[in-house]
Amino acid sequence: MWLTSIWWLGGTSSGLLDRPTCDQLPLSLRQRDLCRRKPFLLPSVLDGARLAVSECQNQFRLERWNCSTSEEPPVFGHELTSGTKETAFIYAVMAAGLVHAVTRSCSQGNTTECSCDTRLQGGAGQGFLAPAQSWHWGGCSDHIRYGTWFSRRFMENTVKNMSTSRGGFTLSTMNQHNGEAGRQAVERTMSTDCRCHGVSGSCAVKTCWKTMAPFRQVGAYLKERYEQSVQVSDRSRRKVRRKDQRRTVDKHQLIYLNKSPNYCVADRRRGVAGTRGRRCNRTSVGPDGCNLLCCGRGYNTHVERHVQRCECKFVWCCYVHCRRCESMNDMHTCK
Ligand SMILES: *[C@@H]1O[C@H](CO)[C@@H](O)[C@H](O)[C@H]1NC(C)=O
Ligand SMILES: *[C@@H]1O[C@H](CO)[C@@H](O)[C@H](O)[C@H]1NC(C)=O
Ligand SMILES: *[C@@H]1O[C@H](CO)[C@@H](O)[C@H](O)[C@H]1NC(C)=O
Ligand SMILES: *[C@@H]1O[C@H](CO)[C@@H](O)[C@H](O)[C@H]1NC(C)=O
Repeated sequence: MWLTSIWWLGGTSSGLLDRPTCDQLPLSLRQRDLCRRKPFLLPSVLDGARLAVSECQNQFRLERWNCSTSEEPPVFGHELTSGTKETAFIYAVMAAGLVHAVTRSCSQGNTTECSCDTRLQGGAGQGFLAPAQSWHWGGCSDHIRYGTWFSRRFMENTVKNMSTSRGGFTLSTMNQHNGEAGRQAVERTMSTDCRCHGVSGSCAVKTCWKTMAPFRQVGAYLKERYEQSVQVSDRSRRKVRRKDQRRTVDKHQLIYLNKSPNYCVADRRRGVAGTRGRRCNRTSVGPDGCNLLCCGRGYNTHVERHVQRCECKFVWCCYVHCRRCESMNDMHTCK
């Protein structure tokens, strides 16, 4: 599956494929076709994947499932097809990463097919600033429409109208729903930035533009969605529950079909690394606390020696003189 390879590439350090061509990536036929028609977007595809993977690892660094991409195939990537909340997050963050990377490339003028949002240029805007103040749209507003279009095409979102009931999903429609939620996340986290002009910073005139949030913020937004994700029922497996047919899903919600494993114990067949050897925090009550992270198995403690430069003084003239300080810290790892 294409996502498995792109996701894995996103997790490897760059350099492996610095100037890839459309034929070097394991893409589907339709993706290859899209790639050949728009080869200038290929670097953005890889950028988007890197954004997505590194943000996934950042958001999940303290959890039992830590979004690791270090596993070897065929173990790697099980969570991409398991239909769990983790699958949901991955699709959403990947779709968002593509929007973000392609839009960035548009705003930087790297392609002629898209540019800044010209609807937001020149004319004065209304509504969100004090009316007394004079301001106008200026600069480069990020134009996410093209990036959104590309992300949708690339991820082969073909379902035209998404189901709004909780019943009757397949893995494919679940993934498409979550991809769409990821694209929405970029739009929802956009903000308006302004710069002041006028005599000595009087701010008599303001220029404003719309800008995407740093991807970190998109990731945090999606992590929240992950935590509130809702289970929907699988069309192929069991009868759609009446209850599910009546209850609805919102297009911003992440949805999943299958319950996640607890990720406690290594299970190579299912691509679960387990938490043995993971560093935990003895005093934290969060997911990184030793009790939760180690699944109650307990932990080992070792002393770690840190050497740092400390008590630095500026010596006239000109160097900095420091002492070497040693500290001993307890480090805990799961049994
Ligand atoms: C995730 O956890 C595994 C052990 O379960 C560890 O080997 C790996 O380095 C961690 N990955 C990240 C990205 O933190
Ligand atoms: C745009 O092109 C410049 C020069 O080729 C490159 O350094 C930059 O990374 C590109 N930006 C994006 C977002 O692709
Ligand atoms: C999709 O749209 C068609 C026509 O607008 C409608 O009949 C159908 O029920 C919709 N399907 C879903 C899943 O919403
Ligand atoms: C451990 O958790 C506590 C409480 O959440 C926090 O104050 C502390 O900085 C954490 N320690 C490390 C090493 O992350």
